[in-house]
Amino acid sequence: MQSTNVVWHHATVSRTDRETQNAHKSVILWFTGLSGAGKSTLAHAVEARLYENKCHTFVIDGDNVRHGLCGDLGFSAADRTENIRRVGEVAKLFIEAGVITLTAFISPFRADRDRVRQMVGEGEFFEIYCKADLAVCEGRDVKGMYQKARSGQITEFTGISSPYEAPEAAELVVETGTKPLEACVDEVIDALVRQGIILAK
Ligand code: ADX
Repeated sequence: MQSTNVVWHHATVSRTDRETQNAHKSVILWFTGLSGAGKSTLAHAVEARLYENKCHTFVIDGDNVRHGLCGDLGFSAADRTENIRRVGEVAKLFIEAGVITLTAFISPFRADRDRVRQMVGEGEFFEIYCKADLAVCEGRDVKGMYQKARSGQITEFTGISSPYEAPEAAELVVETGTKPLEACVDEVIDALVRQGIILAK
């Protein structure tokens, strides 16, 4: 969708200028997975590692965004789609700003994730599937939400009463259900080096 009577204004400082100055590419690292799979934990730990390496980074987190930008949205399929659309647009702005943008959203629908992939250029959407069995996530139940979902206090809960469509061709699958955090971080960083997004240290 696009407003009428608006013309794109081209930046004087280009994204390429920013990437050259930063000495890394700007991409979206899209973490997807069940609630409790460890998306936010992994995204923040990867960010900390990138920050140490002088990269420009930012994490956009599902729970935080729903306090503001997407505070008007619930968890129906349509609202989740709109949530991911807005986050995709924000992430797109961030990569224009030269930032490695890490997003941590359940983003349960393949079509929604693919729409974000289409919004940006080839190779700029790096999908990371945080793979953890429902039993593991439910066992962790950090926020007590699975218990509420099981008892019907929360409806349309992902994995219980609302579907999760696992990625079929993610750039990276990380076994966050079984592997220690530092090993997962290493896997992400190694993949970013292999892809030429960041330089090897
Ligand atoms: S998404 O489906 O639209 O991508 P998002 O990542 O923003 O979800 O938010 C998920 C977080 O909201 C969960 O970590 C959980 O804490 C909370 N939440 C509350 N209700 C639900 C629900 N019905 N389904 C999933 N998560 C929920």
